[in-house]
Amino acid sequence: MRGKDFFGAKMANSFWLFTLIVTVGLILSGCQHDLVKTELPPDSTAQEQSQNTDEQSTNNTQAEQPPSTGTQPTSEPRSTQTSGESPAEYTPDVTFTLRTNIAEGKLIFEGVGGSIDGQTNPNLRVATGAVVQVTLINGDGALHDVSFPEFNATSNQIVGQESSTSIVFRADSAGEYFYFCTVPGHRQAGMEGKLIVGEAEASGPSGANIALDPTDLPGPLNRQSSEFVRVDLETIEVEGHLGDGRTFTYWTFNNQVPGPFIRVRVGDTVEVHLKNREDSTMIHSVDFHAVTGPGGGAVLTQTSPGDETVFTFKALNPGLYVYHCATPLVAQHIANGMYGLILVEPEEGLPPVDREFYVMQGEIYTRESLGQQGALGFSVDKLLDETPEYFVFNGAIDALTKTSPLQANVGETVRLFMGVGGPNFTSSFHVIGEIFDRVYDQASLTSPPLTDVQTTLVPPGGATMVEFKLDVPGRYILVDHALSRLERGLVGFLYAEGEDNPDIFHEGGGN
Ligand code: CU
Ligand code: CU
Repeated sequence: MRGKDFFGAKMANSFWLFTLIVTVGLILSGCQHDLVKTELPPDSTAQEQSQNTDEQSTNNTQAEQPPSTGTQPTSEPRSTQTSGESPAEYTPDVTFTLRTNIAEGKLIFEGVGGSIDGQTNPNLRVATGAVVQVTLINGDGALHDVSFPEFNATSNQIVGQESSTSIVFRADSAGEYFYFCTVPGHRQAGMEGKLIVGEAEASGPSGANIALDPTDLPGPLNRQSSEFVRVDLETIEVEGHLGDGRTFTYWTFNNQVPGPFIRVRVGDTVEVHLKNREDSTMIHSVDFHAVTGPGGGAVLTQTSPGDETVFTFKALNPGLYVYHCATPLVAQHIANGMYGLILVEPEEGLPPVDREFYVMQGEIYTRESLGQQGALGFSVDKLLDETPEYFVFNGAIDALTKTSPLQANVGETVRLFMGVGGPNFTSSFHVIGEIFDRVYDQASLTSPPLTDVQTTLVPPGGATMVEFKLDVPGRYILVDHALSRLERGLVGFLYAEGEDNPDIFHEGGGN
């Protein structure tokens, strides 16, 4: 089947010969893991080989080695030289074919053949030391390439549907690495996958899941009278999952970001217990914007590791309020994850809806620049410069896309409680593909809502409540419409399931 792809291919001129050789090998082998013989340029890096094949084949007589990445000495250099013959030959241990494509609004690599067939941005698993051949086929016609930078392997750029190119490199160091398209913007648009060399899965950091599920919130109180309510918060510092191959030391309320959604009724008396776990390295505290009193409680709750503090307040004003740690540097405690929302329901409660979700936006200031993997450290300089590397919904890059995307049905009205922990950036909150039927601007629940709003501002230390009815099935995308932040991790999905509604939305013309 791979052979068929190649026969139909319109190959880019300068490296057709190389590709042809590979193709013949693939056709003969008929199997991803079979051995394929092809030519190897002598001492060029892998990325040059397909460009230079014609030239190389005339002057590669001194070739003795398969491509080396140059970063690590291999303990057992592969002996690939054929006895006294020229040109030199080598044998890939494993071959993969990737095809560029557009799927669900993203640019992707799609696996072709073998165990990766049909997968989006497949994980490519190889043994340590394996010689890996990757063939890239252009499926969408735009300019693309594929790069494995840790192995100095970047393919030619190919343009035009069915053009193709191949690269070969030795995966000589165990670990997890990204491969991606180097055309500006394409990696961010989705063209990124993982090369897993050796037993890498255990070695890559994973970290605890700190992302709060957006459905993890108490339901409407449905009470007619005020009550006494006890709230227990525990501050916990934890190495958590920030995103693929990346962890970060979060400071949390109750081990999650955002902290728990607290729901009380106006007139309630609220007794807050703040416990700071004994293994904490910091003093922590809590400032509720719903509190009338010094520091919103922060003055009374500066709590050392292992201690507990208590204070009591009366919820005087209905609304949706942020709470956060208020221990210096306050911005640092917030940036590291210490924020949440408290809803003070009006006497009559909120209008009924079918589903409620809890989403908060924050910034992550890492020493390492965007995209680097590993256990990332916090940068106070970047915090003070207000230059975050990541923006996140519910604490992690993939919290609302992979870990817990929002789900609802067509015909339902959904409500989002949305707040910004920040500490610094105002959100231009928007849901791609929907219009907010109602926005409780700045989370004022006693003013009439705005109606029919596309994008609403949510400041740091502020919140909003938005509602909309789902009319058309599909995937809707939560963003801050300052969309560069999407490329730094700020994106969430809302899947609406149900019958098509061609009256409102359909492909093609007509009515
Ligand atoms: Cu591309
Ligand atoms: Cu704190």
